[in-house]
Amino acid sequence: MLRATDLVFAHKGQDAPYHFSLEARPGEVTAISGASGSGKSTLLDLLAGFLTPTSGRLDLDGADLLPLPPETRPVSLLLQADNLFEHLSARDNVELGLPKGTPRAERREKVAAALADMGLAGFDDKPASTLSGGQKQRVALARTLLRNRPILLLDEPFSALDDETRQAMRSLIGALCAAQNWHTILVSHHADDIAALATRHYRLENGRLAAAQN
Ligand SMILES: Nc1ncnc2c1ncn2[C@@H]1O[C@H](COP(=O)(O)OP(=O)(O)OP(=O)(O)O)[C@@H](O)[C@H]1O
Ligand SMILES: [Mg+2]
Repeated sequence: MLRATDLVFAHKGQDAPYHFSLEARPGEVTAISGASGSGKSTLLDLLAGFLTPTSGRLDLDGADLLPLPPETRPVSLLLQADNLFEHLSARDNVELGLPKGTPRAERREKVAAALADMGLAGFDDKPASTLSGGQKQRVALARTLLRNRPILLLDEPFSALDDETRQAMRSLIGALCAAQNWHTILVSHHADDIAALATRHYRLENGRLAAAQN
């Protein structure tokens, strides 16, 4: 179980701080919704270690995560935007998700399979700068999923996708999350995504997370 207990944080100049508490179970998707500017991306930055709370607890199966810097937290994070190195190919972008030292043959195979899963077979050599918004989003998702860490944080991962692709990505994420026992936290504005994927749903309002109905 991933548990955040009253993580307190305020951006510079912010009067009332956030107080974030949530629980996310392994193998399940926990959804976060809330208005634009309500603090959803801020919450993910706190969980990933890019921001530091002034107080509170964050633990995974009882282990304290707060002392860990982002690079050693057991977290994969898909940011809301600007996820790719534009000058690198789709393949090289996805490869960044694999641990350093992964043998070359294994790397190529895993990356090709991850791109194929995203409906991007054959896109390996394309520079990211030549991809559409939805294609970029899927390349970034492939990289994030390949990291295969116990906590998966997804910030609006389907925003640039058409309905059909969106449903395919939803199924893939749901299946992987269950198979790998990831604690998945999905930020989404879409009731459909939440209903299809999430077993638990929090709404972020007035700086706090409240249990919500799907
Ligand atoms: N680095 C920063 N410094 C100061 N204020 C910030 C910073 N980042 C975000 N904020 C403010 O914090 C609030 C929450 O921002 P955040 O990006 O977490 O919202 P969000 O819920 O993800 O919104 P959206 O749905 O539009 O992505 C906003 O009012 C934003 O302006
Ligand atoms: Mg955001």
